[in-house]
Amino acid sequence: MENIILIAAPGAGKGTLAKSLKSKYGYVHISTGDLLRDAVNKGDDLGLRVKDILASGGLVDDETVYEILKARLKEDDCKKGVILDGFPRNVLQAVKYEEILSELNMNLGVVIVLDVEEELLVKRITGRRICKDCGEIYNIYNPMMTPKKENTCDKCGGSLYQRSDDNEEALKSRYATYLEKTQPLIDYYQKKNNLYIVDSNKDINYTLEQVEKILNDLGDSSD
Ligand code: AP5
Repeated sequence: MENIILIAAPGAGKGTLAKSLKSKYGYVHISTGDLLRDAVNKGDDLGLRVKDILASGGLVDDETVYEILKARLKEDDCKKGVILDGFPRNVLQAVKYEEILSELNMNLGVVIVLDVEEELLVKRITGRRICKDCGEIYNIYNPMMTPKKENTCDKCGGSLYQRSDDNEEALKSRYATYLEKTQPLIDYYQKKNNLYIVDSNKDINYTLEQVEKILNDLGDSSD
């Protein structure tokens, strides 16, 4: 399977898409945001260092992110194909990623950009609820994504929580950071001819269909 990099604004649906591709095809889903939030929840040194940065919507320093990403990529399961969600976040990280890949003898793969209108992001972010046990993602404003029982995960019965950065104020800062630092990656990868832009303004099934078509055309999603 091709490795996949997902690029999109905060709340566009990277994690939701990655989870669908993981369950249908067995990709390994690596979210640098999840890895950092796990550290915050554990309260270890890394977690204490990054807690306030995450809550405010700023970016964690590049070296810290390389360290956690590289450690995860070294694990055996990553050989079958990874979906990167939240990394790279700027051009420097993209350049460094290529060094890490060549060190680990892995391929860059394809880059998929989820294109979403800015005004849709507020409801996707403020309505998001996540299962604390299995990580399933819901949205209380979207009937297709609402849990059957309030605050309870349909899949495992775990309780749902809201991320500390899922508010309108932090979203403003996260979106501004996205435009300034992350969006230039679209140009960067366009020049490498491995970039696909997907309309993600409609429901998740529509997004998934387009991505599956891209992967099928690359002869990829079945092996
Ligand atoms: P991170 O966790 O990566 O957050 P993000 O990029 O802001 O993206 P989100 O996780 O908020 O959104 P998503 O696109 O995954 O949306 P989701 O699928 O959940 O990063 C958090 C922080 O960590 C950063 O601010 C930074 O501090 C730090 N960090 C992480 N990586 C870093 C790096 N590389 N360098 C430095 N710092 C880093 O969907 C959102 C909602 O929409 C859900 O409720 C969902 O149900 C709904 N939804 C999804 N798809 C659809 C659809 N098609 N239609 C309708 N609703 C949908």
